[in-house]
Amino acid sequence: MYCLAIETSCDDTCVAIIKDGFIILSNVISSQTDIHRRFGGVVPEVASRRHLEYLIPALEQACQQANITLKEIDLVAVTRGPGLTGSLLMGLCMGKTLAILYQKPFIAINHLEGHLFASRLDHPEIKPPFISLIVSGGHTELTLVKDWGEYIHLGRTRDDAAGEVYDKVAQYLKIGYPGGPIIDNRVKNANPTRFYFRGGLEDQENYDFSFSGLKTAVIRTYDQLSDSSKQDDNIINDLLASFQRSVIRTLWKKTILAIKKTGIRTVSLGGGVAANSSLRSHFLQKGAQHNLKVYLPSPALCTDNAAMIGSSGTFHYFTGKISPLDIEPDPQLRLGGT
Ligand code: KG4
Ligand code: ZN
Repeated sequence: MYCLAIETSCDDTCVAIIKDGFIILSNVISSQTDIHRRFGGVVPEVASRRHLEYLIPALEQACQQANITLKEIDLVAVTRGPGLTGSLLMGLCMGKTLAILYQKPFIAINHLEGHLFASRLDHPEIKPPFISLIVSGGHTELTLVKDWGEYIHLGRTRDDAAGEVYDKVAQYLKIGYPGGPIIDNRVKNANPTRFYFRGGLEDQENYDFSFSGLKTAVIRTYDQLSDSSKQDDNIINDLLASFQRSVIRTLWKKTILAIKKTGIRTVSLGGGVAANSSLRSHFLQKGAQHNLKVYLPSPALCTDNAAMIGSSGTFHYFTGKISPLDIEPDPQLRLGGT
């Protein structure tokens, strides 16, 4: 069972070939980071134009690496949302065209569900029910996965997503783009207790997140530093580490709340921020303390990729789901209703 998967929800042009839902034959990611870097964030119009340019070469590369021709594909799976409308349209158009041309079934996939399936790709033994935390540039979502395809929404961010705040803090401090991996590297030997930032809603007995106040607090603290402190890498790295500590502490508090309230003992992480080394070790360490099973996809499967879309697509195909070819992008698509 060969699935051709396409993911273009944001700024990465991704094409993958997945065998039987679990085996990654190719997983091509054409990054547009260099283009968006000069703007300090993703420019939607530029992103969709680049997808148009990159999609065919990425498709050719994916087939070549997998040593497969398009005729041999059994299924086409494409991200339908959430994401940027123009970007989603590019992938959907390409997927629908291929499905028509080669007479293959077509399945539209929820990008967030794709992030869930990234865990399953790396850890086929993971079994629902489990608590999923998806933390990316666009989302911070806590979900109860009752079964594959059966989701109960628990909470999400009320304002900025966790990754978005990494990127915005980095942009304000002019330390590079995207902020997540840069901050991850800079804080490795820093002191995370030099500054203290309370996380938004961190002590509230609900599953909602809020990161925009934290972003403002970090920026204000930076603004109040003397000019010489602003030039001091040690102080800046401590500031970033203190910021990150607050993010990770909040993410863990909400996750453990869900664990305690539901009685479920398994946690899965996903999304670009789940590639963060401190977040990963924090969840592994705390998970061990609480006797939980913690599943972390490899960093390459945490960030956006099409392999996770192919895995999810193959699962749905086997449950009998096929999408109509007139299906449209849904930039606000959610996971688990609400
Ligand atoms: O999942 P993803 O590739 O795209 C979205 O669906 O948004 O996530 C991208 C986000 C960016 O905000 C990026 O800064 C963040 O994930 N990110 C990280 C790390 N790697 C990527 N954040 C913290 N630590 C990292 N190592
Ligand atoms: Zn994503």
